[in-house]
Amino acid sequence: MKEFLKHKIFQLITQVADEQNLECYVIGGYVRDIFLKRPSKDIDIMVVGSGINLAENVNQRIKNHGKLTVFKKFGTAQIKYRNIDIEFVGARKESYQHDSRKPIVEDGTLEDDLNRRDFTINAMAICLNSNCLGKLKDPFDGLTDLKNFVIRTPLNPDITFSDDPLRMLRGIRFASQLRFYIETNTFDAIIRNKERINIISKERIADELNKVILSSKPSVGFILLEKTGLLELIFPELLALKGAETKDGIGHKDNFYHTLMVLDNLCELTDNLWLRWAALLHDIGKPRTKRFDPRLGWTFHNHNYVGEKMIPEIFHRMKLPMNEKMKYVQKLVTLHMRPIVLSEDEVTDSAIRRLLFDSGEDIDDLMKLCEADITSKNPDKVQRYKSNFLLVRQKLKEIEEKDKLRNFQPPIGGEEIMKTFQLPASSIVGEIKSRIKDAILDGIIANEYEEARNYMFQIANELNIAKFSNRQSILDDKSL
Ligand code: CTP
Repeated sequence: MKEFLKHKIFQLITQVADEQNLECYVIGGYVRDIFLKRPSKDIDIMVVGSGINLAENVNQRIKNHGKLTVFKKFGTAQIKYRNIDIEFVGARKESYQHDSRKPIVEDGTLEDDLNRRDFTINAMAICLNSNCLGKLKDPFDGLTDLKNFVIRTPLNPDITFSDDPLRMLRGIRFASQLRFYIETNTFDAIIRNKERINIISKERIADELNKVILSSKPSVGFILLEKTGLLELIFPELLALKGAETKDGIGHKDNFYHTLMVLDNLCELTDNLWLRWAALLHDIGKPRTKRFDPRLGWTFHNHNYVGEKMIPEIFHRMKLPMNEKMKYVQKLVTLHMRPIVLSEDEVTDSAIRRLLFDSGEDIDDLMKLCEADITSKNPDKVQRYKSNFLLVRQKLKEIEEKDKLRNFQPPIGGEEIMKTFQLPASSIVGEIKSRIKDAILDGIIANEYEEARNYMFQIANELNIAKFSNRQSILDDKSL
């Protein structure tokens, strides 16, 4: 456990703190992660006195190898040294007002500082002064909670959560990341204080949600969010998936739990945050499209398209990036049924080409999502889907090698069509272009310039584009 103290940076901190007669500790997540044997690059140093002073002196000793930033307003400083971030803070005593996250801060002791922390597992400190080097201060018995996998607040949880409501989400995030249990009093306090989440910025909420999504089994976090009532406040569209209705003896699956299962399955295949978001949102359009048809049972027609349209409104509200990452999520949600439909029908070359064309670079991610989407409890069905998917994958590989369709752009573009036939930008240009594309995808012509150009004239003829009903006249036209 004390191995880390041999690191040069800790030795320097000890030296400087001793010289200046400052009581000094490493604290918080770094200490927790030492016991959990998790790698951690963020080090929090707490000093009874001025954190800025200590940081300035430590930085002088590492001679320009570190980058010091001082946050005067907060009384903190940060040194970036190689690939580690070291934060220096003075021990604080904080109290909060009801309508704000901004605390009233005063200088305090080590105990005051540990009191105001979120969870017992994060309220441990290790002494860095040489007279007590490596000694653990653990006033709330965080170590026992760590051993028992328990998340618990050091103080009355109503106070801890009311002081900083983001901690409710942090607790759930830790439960999901570390696979810990939230102790009953702490859990009940989240339920009581849930409405206070409304004073937290959307960005910070999104940060925590992303960490839940990036954990190894995100369903743990989402089920806790649902059970505490937080999900309703921060992600109502996801909660709307919950429930399994039955009519005329016909039921449908609970799409909330199905979604979480898909997400968990996918987490075994990828760490890509946005692909995981696609799993979380793949059925988000289902509640809005749900119908009961006495002949067909429950239907969710076009839920993928409706879901795709809902994504910008969700990303905007949650302050998630509305850029190519969102477009990627939208694309996967739109396409998420295509491989499964393919694997149910006959797998034709033409359907495979279209899938490759529509998914482009993201075909492998789409296939991962679709495989994760197989959650049937019927082993025969699962086996059938899996072997059909294997066939789809094999065909994808063959067609890709043969036709090079990934990132495919039809060899003839709109510009060329307009120039050849002296047409203004119009729907007829679009029609010629898409018929060339379809011909390539259907295997009528090869994905090559000459064939595509010949085919363009053929279509022009059919469409009776007056000037060039005689193909030779175009070939003779030297101006082209
Ligand atoms: N902390 C807190 N309340 C918060 C945020 C942080 O009490 N809302 C305290 C905890 O003691 C925490 C420490 O500040 O351990 C450092 O916070 P931070 O770096 O945000 O979190 P870590 O616990 O280090 O974990 P992670 O890096 O995974 O967020």
